[in-house]
Amino acid sequence: MPKWVTHVLLILACLFGHNTNGQVEQHAALVSEKTLIIYLSRTNNTKVIAEIIQTEVGGDLVALELETPYPEDYDAIVKQVAEENETGFLPPLKTSIDISRYDTIFLGFPTWGMQLPPPLKSFLSAHDLSGKTIIPFNTHAGYGVGSGFKTTEELCKGCSILKGFSIRGGIERDGIYLVIKGEKKMEATLAIKSWLKQVNIQTLN
Ligand SMILES: Cc1cc2nc3c(=O)[nH]c(=O)nc-3n(C[C@H](O)[C@H](O)[C@H](O)COP(=O)(O)O)c2cc1C
Repeated sequence: MPKWVTHVLLILACLFGHNTNGQVEQHAALVSEKTLIIYLSRTNNTKVIAEIIQTEVGGDLVALELETPYPEDYDAIVKQVAEENETGFLPPLKTSIDISRYDTIFLGFPTWGMQLPPPLKSFLSAHDLSGKTIIPFNTHAGYGVGSGFKTTEELCKGCSILKGFSIRGGIERDGIYLVIKGEKKMEATLAIKSWLKQVNIQTLN
């Protein structure tokens, strides 16, 4: 066999593995290189979910930050977000990402005012995500995702959007902040594993 053929075969062997059925499957590490997990989080519940997803699928983890952070005070942020939702104001982002490097994007956000938070609207409006796979995930205070997944779909023209994941997080209004820890984190991990299987995302383990 010519030497160059051996080289090509060796490279292919490194790139592809075989599963137990003998079918060729792409190596997980190569998939995760093109995966971005971007999230907005204030009291860290969504951040913990993002970290669990990264442990399961690999990829780059990025926190979405604003040029001008929201106020610390809960009532003040609720008021500002309500105004931004009403006027359609898109808060400028500090986070800048070369989106062309990724083909799968996990998009995490808390429910704010039963909607997609304005910074996510900024992110989706600022990037051409057509042709990419978008996988939304959410935490909330008990009222669910609201219109968050629907708006993601509306703002993401030409994307392939997979079924989102939503889980109860904290209740900042009542002084309850990070709750996805300890046993709740273990439960969340199991729920995430089952969701990833459902939406057919390859995991590292
Ligand atoms: C401005 C603001 C508005 C919120 N609005 C809602 C809401 O409409 N429904 C809900 O279930 N939770 C609401 N929450 C609670 C968060 O969705 C919940 O605490 C979430 O887990 C926070 O995620 P984080 O810890 O990643 O910031 C709101 C929180 C904030 C700060």
